[in-house]
Amino acid sequence: MKVIRNINEMQQIVKDLKIQGKEIGFVPTMGFLHEGHISLIERARNENDLVVTSIFVNPLQFGPNEDFDQYPRDFERDERLARERGTDILFYPSAEAMYPKGAGTVMKVTSRTDVLCGEKRPGHFDGVVTVLTKLFHIIQPDRAYFGLKDAQQVAVVDDLIRSYFFPVELVACPTVREEDGLAKSSRNVNLSTEERKAAPKLYEHLLSARKLAEEGADVETVRSQLLSELDQMALGETDYVQILSYPGLEAVQTFDQPTIIALAYRFQKARLIDNIIIR
Ligand code: PAJ
Repeated sequence: MKVIRNINEMQQIVKDLKIQGKEIGFVPTMGFLHEGHISLIERARNENDLVVTSIFVNPLQFGPNEDFDQYPRDFERDERLARERGTDILFYPSAEAMYPKGAGTVMKVTSRTDVLCGEKRPGHFDGVVTVLTKLFHIIQPDRAYFGLKDAQQVAVVDDLIRSYFFPVELVACPTVREEDGLAKSSRNVNLSTEERKAAPKLYEHLLSARKLAEEGADVETVRSQLLSELDQMALGETDYVQILSYPGLEAVQTFDQPTIIALAYRFQKARLIDNIIIR
């Protein structure tokens, strides 16, 4: 595995790979790799000639009062995991290189951002699509791999690809969970012992919500039931519970279309999200 920090060098490597006709699978991450990220790397490994994984904690997608400084980082561990689990090229640019001084062109998302994390984290998805536009241009992947844990991100990236005609196939991958059901997340290390014990309830409550929906309950009943279960956890606070069409993310009255039940919950030092999509 090669570690590349320099953008020009990465571009030269990509140019050579393209001449050789190699298909590139790309896994963008913010590092502190876990089995969720690894599942994307392994899938990319199976479907492409080579895998580029990027690690970049993107300052542009964090709000002023968010956890950019507290976001966990451990490059040595990431490098080892990426190598052992099938990455060919680890792209690890600096913030100065990705956001050159004096360059101020950014992307703006205008649909699907008035709900879920888009509503609660103003500017977040503008930051995500801006960095992905840069990364897609540098890496020129044939396929890019994203996790459905961040289901709104998948929908927004799908729109980015269509809006800007990126010749990239988006591959959406299932959420990888701990044995107790908690969705794997780099942010889980910022949970206290007590919070970590309670956190699997987020998924348990999502499962009960799905069951209720499958038994024929209406959308508002399912939503208020889930909300009250989360409120009873009493360790942090609910940021949102929303039930929307997927991937359109429009309000729904019934479960007659593919529907996402999504939540965000704030613990002391970690805001976690999770969802279930009912097909
Ligand atoms: P990050 O949170 O590091 O996640 C990188 C990728 O891993 C995303 O596609 C995310 O959905 C996926 N992922 C995270 N946890 C997962 C899990 N438990 N199961 C399956 N996939 C999981 O998402 C980002 O970084 C950034 O926004 C990024 C796309 C890199 C742009 O900066």
